[in-house]
Amino acid sequence: MNASTTIQQDQRERAMRALAGGVSSNTRLLNPHLIVERASGARLWDTDGNEYLDYLLGQGPNFLGYAPPRVVEKVIAAQRDGIIYAATHHREIEAAERVLAVLPWAEQLRFGSSSSEMIQAAMRIARNATGRRNVLRFHGHYHGWFDNIQIRSNGGRVETGSLGQLPDALDPTITIEWNDPAAFTAAVSEHGDTIAAVVMEPMMLNAGSIAPADGYLQHVRDLCTQRGIVLIFDETISGFRVALGGAAERFGATPDLAVYGKAMAAGWPCAALAGRRDLFADVATGALTHAGTFNGNTIATAAVLASLDELEDRSVYRHVEEVGAALIDGLTGVLDHHGIPIKIQGLPMAFHARFDTGNEPITRYAQLQTIDQDRYGRFAGQLIDHGIWVAYRGIWYVSAAHTLDDVDETVKRFEAAVSDLGDA
Ligand SMILES: Cc1ncc(COP(=O)(O)O)c(C=O)c1O
Repeated sequence: MNASTTIQQDQRERAMRALAGGVSSNTRLLNPHLIVERASGARLWDTDGNEYLDYLLGQGPNFLGYAPPRVVEKVIAAQRDGIIYAATHHREIEAAERVLAVLPWAEQLRFGSSSSEMIQAAMRIARNATGRRNVLRFHGHYHGWFDNIQIRSNGGRVETGSLGQLPDALDPTITIEWNDPAAFTAAVSEHGDTIAAVVMEPMMLNAGSIAPADGYLQHVRDLCTQRGIVLIFDETISGFRVALGGAAERFGATPDLAVYGKAMAAGWPCAALAGRRDLFADVATGALTHAGTFNGNTIATAAVLASLDELEDRSVYRHVEEVGAALIDGLTGVLDHHGIPIKIQGLPMAFHARFDTGNEPITRYAQLQTIDQDRYGRFAGQLIDHGIWVAYRGIWYVSAAHTLDDVDETVKRFEAAVSDLGDA
């Protein structure tokens, strides 16, 4: 499959001229970028007509596949009523009620447009509630690109994640290893009275697909409760994906606040911050500002409602578990057969692949530091050339639109890519 014929070549040049770096988000710079014509179900086509089986799913949101027909129809119908009114509307109320119904621990929420901004709201609410300044967070967890939260973890060292970021922007954050109860106990013992919030991905999905160790989330919950710290789960990837109620449901944990995005609205742009009613009290009066012109618009909330129509009977999750497990089995079979040291780790609906000669699953971010990410990135490029659209950084997403036939086709394409591996 050749992604560099004339139509794409020309468009890529136009993209480079008109868009900084040819993209609208820096995360897309990481992937050798093809120019997309359209996508449907589990497949995507570039502008040269090449077809790809898609396991990137727009970085996760398309959990029901691309353009799921019933969702599309409902969103189109809803937008005929107008999109944004600067007032509360009936779909917004129903969407809030139905999201809360699948998050039994949460009492209220606010909608927004991106998870980056909802994380900001969560930290502001936590600082207000506690009168404290610091936020405890974890190496390898991503919570958006804003100044006070974007980091680069370099060995055990934390640096600002971007040029132009204020050098002291990270001052009120303390960063430790995740999934390490002793490190958490030590940090809380040392800084507890200054910590407003602990913010984490309750399953580490941005790096490595690492599930929380047994008892870890409860340990964090218990210490947060003891020390009056607000526990924030960033369920941007895990929410509505690893279970209807996200990682909190799957791993039996209870945060005080949680951020949702991606799969919640089946690919339409919508995010939410849900949590305890008392924490929202000053938001409710307006004393604590959370705002946004596009928050809770008709399209976003209609998409949430239509997505929940599909997800609520939970058969979607059984399907994705079955298809994702078959995919992992198929890929593992090919890798074993060819003796390729790629390890797969995670859940059927979101897993990571990495070059790794070790035999143990990775449980800590520090272990990921020894992984040859560039080597996997080159392999991802070969997968793309063989018609499998995947992330350079190793994560694979599976959607409700993928079928067992798609898995068979993917395994064939994967086998062809592995056979061509050469010195990738
Ligand atoms: C865990 C997590 N939090 C926050 C974000 C930021 O979300 P957004 O891109 O919607 O601002 C992301 C994006 O990938 C994420 O994975």
